[in-house]
Amino acid sequence: MSLRSKQWLYVMLCISFLAMSFGVYTSTENVDRGFSVMNEDVRAGKRLFQDYNCVSCHQIFGLGGYMGPDLTNCISSEGGPKRAEMWMRNGFGAMPNFELSDQEITELMAFLAYIDKSGTSPPKEYEINSTGTLDIKHYQDDE
Ligand code: HEC
Repeated sequence: MSLRSKQWLYVMLCISFLAMSFGVYTSTENVDRGFSVMNEDVRAGKRLFQDYNCVSCHQIFGLGGYMGPDLTNCISSEGGPKRAEMWMRNGFGAMPNFELSDQEITELMAFLAYIDKSGTSPPKEYEINSTGTLDIKHYQDDE
């Protein structure tokens, strides 16, 4: 590649970077990333989630242990908050009963509701074909 085309490429990449940054930071797209429900309970719930090491068995956005289900959208999924609360209050099978107080449950529920609003996980619905390739049904935010 000649020096001239390298310089040209460099300038084009800089311009693309600036255009992209401008687009991202000035976007007025109205997305609720959960800040509407962010409060003291959410922060306390996050600390509890860490203290009890819930992530050793549960994932959030796919990250965490795999003994329990992904909790990202457990509040808006079937069964909703009632189901989530029931599991936390009583435990069952591999889900331990942590003898959580009402206050702790309120805080953990607030944290889970906050996470739920921040996005969808998994972001795609797909099937794994026999050849190992993915058959993407749709992106869940398209609904
Ligand atoms: C030892 C592993 C383990 C730990 C630690 C754990 N869980 Fe669970 N949890 C499970 C399993 C297993 C299930 C139930 C899966 C099933 O049978 O549906 C579950 C279910 C749940 C559910 C119901 C999810 C749904 O919608 O089906 C919630 C909510 C939940 N756990 C929250 C928590 C919270 C909050 C903590 C931390 C305080 C925690 N879990 C710690 C293993 C664990």
